[in-house]
Amino acid sequence: MNKELSDASYEKFCHFLHAKSGILLGNAKQYLVRSRMLPIMHRFAISDLDSLILQVISQRDQIVTQTALEAMTTNETLWFRDTYPFEILRNTLLPALAKKQKKLRIWSAASSTGQEAYSIAITIAEFIKTNRNAFNAGIEILGTDLSSDVIKVASSAKYDTLSLNRGLSADFKKRYFTLNSDQSMTVLPEIIKQVSFRQFNLTSNFSPLGKFDIVFCRNVLIYFDAERKTKILQDISACLQPEGSMLLGASESLASASAKFKMITQPSGLYYRKV
Ligand SMILES: C[S@@+](CC[C@H](N)C(=O)[O-])C[C@H]1O[C@@H](n2cnc3c(N)ncnc32)[C@H](O)[C@@H]1O
Repeated sequence: MNKELSDASYEKFCHFLHAKSGILLGNAKQYLVRSRMLPIMHRFAISDLDSLILQVISQRDQIVTQTALEAMTTNETLWFRDTYPFEILRNTLLPALAKKQKKLRIWSAASSTGQEAYSIAITIAEFIKTNRNAFNAGIEILGTDLSSDVIKVASSAKYDTLSLNRGLSADFKKRYFTLNSDQSMTVLPEIIKQVSFRQFNLTSNFSPLGKFDIVFCRNVLIYFDAERKTKILQDISACLQPEGSMLLGASESLASASAKFKMITQPSGLYYRKV
């Protein structure tokens, strides 16, 4: 078995990854590719790392290629991440949208294991508690991600103690989850029914997804180059309803797509409105 990754294979893999998923690795990330590819090499009984890379790029076996692409994603997430997006949702966006008396559609555009989408659904449930007739026309939250593995976890709505303890209050655990015999917890059916998940690559055509009132596109743009990032932001603008809103990650910005959005600053943080 040869576990070394040649410079030529690394470069080819970087090009392929960028073309297929938009993910830009940058210089000197050989160690990362190697550490993520070694388990795949063992799993598919491929004798050396360079051969695995060649096979991935050839796309002869879509399972091998997809597994390699998914292994390069970073799926870090938590409940109510950064707090302020959910405060803006609760205090600014939902009150305005409730007045329209239309079906509410929200997209969690890189949902990872689902915490963001369920945090949105719980925030809406809390809003409805004090605004009884809000969103009677229906609520639809869509979570999408490139990785089919994280989509499986998100769809199961079942979380272990470690992930439950990252950002979720004891009160919300009690009110929005049921306890399973193995100490994991499952999101309540009334929340699950508003949320659906599907695999979706942000480099593909957005139009089959329909129009949204709000898009959460958080902590994913950092992986793309400037050109891809601009294209994704333009596509998000096109799939938003007039005056629809977008929330980015705390360290992300509009870059050259600024003509499509107006930045709105709130006491807790900022969001973007389609112009
Ligand atoms: C760091 S997580 C962010 C999760 C969540 N939005 C949050 O802020 O907590 C980034 C996610 O983006 C997904 N991702 C990476 N490239 C993607 C692409 N081209 N299309 C769709 N999802 C992608 C990864 O699989 C990963 O689950």
